[in-house]
Amino acid sequence: MNHQKQKEQVESRRTFAIISHPDAGKTTLTEKLLLLGGMIRSAGTVKARKTGKYATSDWMEIEKQRGISVTSSVMQFYYKDHHINIVDTPGHQDFSEDTYRTLTAVDSAVMVIDGTKGIEEQTIKLFKVCSMRGIPILTFINKLDREGKDPLELLEEIEEVLGIESYAVTWPIGMGKRFQGTYDRFQKKIEVYRGNEDSFFVDFDGTTVTDDVTEHIDEGYLPSLADELALLDEAGNDFSMEKVKKGKLTPVFFGSAIANFGVQSFFDEFLQLTLPPQSRESSNGEIDPTDTNFSGFIFKIQANMNPAHRDRIAFVRVCSGKFERGMNVTLSRTGRKLKLSQSHQFLASSRETVEEAYAGDIIGLYDSGTYQIGDTLVGEGASVFQFNPLPTFPPELFAKVRVKNAMKGKHFEKGITQLVQEGAVQLYRTPYFGDYILGAVGELQFQVFEYRMKNEYGVDIEFQRLSHVAAKWINKEDLQDKMIDSRVMLVEDREENPVLLFENDFVLRMFQEKYPSVELRSTFG
Ligand code: G4P
Repeated sequence: MNHQKQKEQVESRRTFAIISHPDAGKTTLTEKLLLLGGMIRSAGTVKARKTGKYATSDWMEIEKQRGISVTSSVMQFYYKDHHINIVDTPGHQDFSEDTYRTLTAVDSAVMVIDGTKGIEEQTIKLFKVCSMRGIPILTFINKLDREGKDPLELLEEIEEVLGIESYAVTWPIGMGKRFQGTYDRFQKKIEVYRGNEDSFFVDFDGTTVTDDVTEHIDEGYLPSLADELALLDEAGNDFSMEKVKKGKLTPVFFGSAIANFGVQSFFDEFLQLTLPPQSRESSNGEIDPTDTNFSGFIFKIQANMNPAHRDRIAFVRVCSGKFERGMNVTLSRTGRKLKLSQSHQFLASSRETVEEAYAGDIIGLYDSGTYQIGDTLVGEGASVFQFNPLPTFPPELFAKVRVKNAMKGKHFEKGITQLVQEGAVQLYRTPYFGDYILGAVGELQFQVFEYRMKNEYGVDIEFQRLSHVAAKWINKEDLQDKMIDSRVMLVEDREENPVLLFENDFVLRMFQEKYPSVELRSTFG
C-alpha cells in the first residue's frame, strides 16, 4: 500500500471514548450514534445489552456480563466518509483500571454531563486521564428536555472543577417542558426542538428576529437569548482550534440524547473538531500513523473466565501501517515471532473476523497467554521497538490477601504474579512480614481476582479489607520510622520502592503539613 492511500485511511478515522458518570446518558448517546451510522435499526438494542443492574457479589452474573461486554467493548461504524471506533469505558460496578487504560487507546473523548446534575465524581476521574494525554475533549450536556442547572453555571462548573476552558458551540433556548431548541454559534442557526418529532433548522444571526424565527420559537425567549449570546461573545473564551487539539478548551454542546435532539449536529461538528490518529512515542522516537510498517499496542486483555478454555482476547490499538490477517509480527517484549491469524473486529452487536485494519482501529486477538497489557507488536521486516509504557493509575481500595490453605502457597505465588502482570490488580508487600496487599481502583477487581485465583490456579484466598484510600511513593532517603503509625502504613511496590498508604485524605494532608519538604508522588501522570 502506498503512503498516500495509507494517509487517506488514517485521516478518515476517529477513535474515541464516551466518558460520563453512570446515568448521565452515555448508553443512550452511543445508541443514537449507532443509529446515525446505520449500525442498528431501532433504539433499545444497546440498552437491552446493558443489563448493568446485577449484584456485584454474584460472579456468575458478572461472567455473563463479561461475555457480552467482549463484543460491546468497541463499536465500529462508517459515517459520512469516516471510520468511527467508539471504545466503551465500563462504568457502574465494572469500573476498574481497565476503564482508565482504555482511554490510552483513543484519540479524543466525548464527555457527557447530566444537565440536571452537573459534573459528577466519575466524570472527574475519567476527565483527568484524558486531560493528562492532552487529547481533544468535547462536552455534550444532556437531558435538556428536563429542568436542569443554569447553562452559564454549567460552563463555570466545567472550568472550575475540571480546570479546562470551555466554548459553547450551541446554546439552549429554554429547558424542560419549555425547551425550544439550541442556537448554533458556528452555523448561525437555531435547531428547533419538537419533542418526539424530528428537529429542523432556522437561520438566525443572533440579533435580527425574523418571522421564520418567531414562527417556531416562543418570542419571550429571544431577548434573553440575545443577551446570553452577547455575554458569551464578550465574557466567554474565544474559540481556538489549537487549544481544542491539545485538550485545553472543550467545545460544549447541549441536547437531549433520549429525544435524539442535537445528536447529529453534535456529531457532524465532532468530526471537524477532533483529530485522526496521531503519532505515538516509542523507544524509536515518534511513530507516525501513516508509516506503512504495522505497529500496535495491547491496552486490554479480556479473560473469558472459562477455565476449560482459558481463552482470552487481547485488544490491540493499531498505531501505524496496515494490519492484515495472517501477518507475521514480533512481540517486542520477548522478541518472539507471531502469526496473527485469529483476529476480530467488533460491530454493534457481533464479533467478526477482521481481515485488515489501519491506524486508529481496534482489533481483538485470540490470546492463549502470550500477551501482557502494554505489549508492543511490530510488523515483520521493521526494526523492533516498544511504545512508551502505559501509565499506572492510583489505587483507592486496598486489601490484605492470603492463601487459605498454606499447602497451596506455590500456586498462590504463581497466580498472583501472573494476574498482577496482566494488570488485573496492583501488588504491594509489607517490608518485614512480606504480607501481600492488593490495590485496585474498583471493587470488581478484587472479585475478579478472587474468582480467577480459585478457578485458574485452584487457590482459595482470604481478603482483609484495609481502610486506606491513597498510595503515595516516597523517596527512600526521606523515609523515617516516626512517619509510620496506625493510619500511615509502609509497603513496597514490586520493585521494592517504598510506598505509604494513607487511611484518608485528612491523614494525608496532615502528613504533608508535618513534612512539607518530603515529596509524595502518585504513579499517576
Ligand atoms: P449511562 O449509560 O450514562 O449510565 O446512562 P443511560 O444512557 O443508561 O441513561 C440513564 C438514564 O437517563 C436512563 O433512564 C435514560 O433513559 C435517561 N436519559 C438518557 N438521556 C436522556 C435525556 O436526554 N433526557 C432524559 N430525560 N433522560 C435521559 P432510566 O430511567 O435509568 O432507564 P430507562 O427507563 O430509560 O431504561
